[in-house]
Amino acid sequence: MKQFPQSKALQRLPDQFFATLVNKLNAFETKGHDVLNLGQGNPDQPTPGHIVKSLQEAAEKPVYHKYPPFHGFDFLKKSVAEYYKNEYDVDLDPNTEVAIMPGSKTGLVELSQCLLDPGDVALVPDPGYPDYWSGIEMVGATMKSMPLLAENQFLPDYDQIDEDTWNKAKMMFLNYPNNPTGAVADASFFEKTIAEADKHDVCVVHDFAYGAIGFDGEKPLSFMQMEGAKEVGVEVYTMSKTYNMAGWRMAFVVGNPSVINALELIQDHYFCSIFGALQEASSTALLSSQKCVKDLRDTYETRRDLLVGGLEAAGYNVQPCKGSFFVWLKVPEGYTSQKFADDLLESTGLFVAPGIGFGDHGEGYVRIGLNNSNETLEDAVERFKQFANS
Ligand SMILES: Cc1ncc(COP(=O)(O)O)c(C=O)c1O
Repeated sequence: MKQFPQSKALQRLPDQFFATLVNKLNAFETKGHDVLNLGQGNPDQPTPGHIVKSLQEAAEKPVYHKYPPFHGFDFLKKSVAEYYKNEYDVDLDPNTEVAIMPGSKTGLVELSQCLLDPGDVALVPDPGYPDYWSGIEMVGATMKSMPLLAENQFLPDYDQIDEDTWNKAKMMFLNYPNNPTGAVADASFFEKTIAEADKHDVCVVHDFAYGAIGFDGEKPLSFMQMEGAKEVGVEVYTMSKTYNMAGWRMAFVVGNPSVINALELIQDHYFCSIFGALQEASSTALLSSQKCVKDLRDTYETRRDLLVGGLEAAGYNVQPCKGSFFVWLKVPEGYTSQKFADDLLESTGLFVAPGIGFGDHGEGYVRIGLNNSNETLEDAVERFKQFANS
């Protein structure tokens, strides 16, 4: 059989960290081990019933059996604008400031393709969500990492970026509430971001995947709430986490009209939008009562308290996350993140994500998912205890 070589762009793609993790886990499970998987970010609960019902009803409408409009139905763009008004008091023009995406992973890769050329620099958080790297590498641009350190509350320190890097930088990825550290951003950090982005003509891409999940009564800030944000960037919002719709593949990008225009241009070539019934159900989710979201947030907060309390009692050095559904645990002295994750799996069957998979500055930590039931987390705490005492 001929072996056709992959394009240079594909060869540049980084390893899919999560795929490698899952293979490792599956191999271990196949050997008959009793595994608890706290290493992945898949929401564990079903999509709220009223959203599912809306999809069922919409699926019967013949209008949705045809090709949908290229850029999505106007009603969904209007619903997104209304959602931002309701939730964040942000005004968006549905025609020019909202793009519909088949999941935010797709949008995040497309944004690099829209904004970068070979030789350009993209600033990425380190540790950070690995999918930011994929689009940057495909384009042949250069990635520069912005370390997220505990002493800076896991926010990048812009004073550490040299002038040459700023001059070459065309875009910057940010993500608060943060995966994997669980940190949140405050208004003064976003103000600084806007000032730097404006000064250096850098497009800010704020990934707001965990926007609905903030703890201790603090609602996470939308980047769009800040004055001048639309001038310098966009916000990517997925429905995967807010409404447990990860399998549905629905997200949107809001903000700077030139970036929205570029995204819609690239999508004209990649896709013919998204199944119309899914768009209608998404609109239902955005405009119905948001009580299901409050309940979800409360559930994650209870789980956080259970896990963090249990880990502290077992002698681990752990800070409660302020948002997202991840606990970022410092590994005990003498371990790398990979060795801790491997040893924990080998001796207790507990699977957590090694921090090194999220970038060099993820070293020294592992990420634990709160997307598991109270019973599973109680079992996990017991296994952590057993490991600490072994
Ligand atoms: C920070 C972050 N951004 C984006 C995504 C992708 O979300 P989706 O592709 O489901 O919209 C995830 C998923 O885990 C994430 O953690």
